[in-house]
Amino acid sequence: MISFTLNEKVIEVDADPSMPLLWALRDLLDMTGTKYGCGIAQCGACTVHMDGNAVRSCVMPLSAVAGKKIKTIEGLPSDASHVIQQAWLEHNVPQCGYCQSGQIMSAVALLESNPNPDDAAIDTAMQGNICRCGTYPRIKAAIKDAAK
Ligand code: FES
Repeated sequence: MISFTLNEKVIEVDADPSMPLLWALRDLLDMTGTKYGCGIAQCGACTVHMDGNAVRSCVMPLSAVAGKKIKTIEGLPSDASHVIQQAWLEHNVPQCGYCQSGQIMSAVALLESNPNPDDAAIDTAMQGNICRCGTYPRIKAAIKDAAK
């Protein structure tokens, strides 16, 4: 059994400790908001927070998650009242939407560590999140708005 906090609730997962967190979230815990893109920490679709930091859940073994606080996209307000969710809606950021939960989790982690990021800080924080539709300008505009 591996125990950790998932979106403010302490849970136990009966799984191989080498199983990536992404697999546990999606296949064992029915948390499908976090997406599988590449599986090798290259695209950012699987981004969640571990103790407040953005991490790639596709390469994070459950053994490394024990005792930690994990937050997924489902951990954000369901009424979309978070300032980043509001900015995303205002700017109509998503196109196909597949990468967006990862984008949002990276953006939320950025603002939690740096409430007033400049362009360079936004670029650095978001560079690991790839969007095939090219929504980057809207992502940047939304983050800037949310930071106001
Ligand atoms: Fe984890 Fe692409 S699925 S970074």
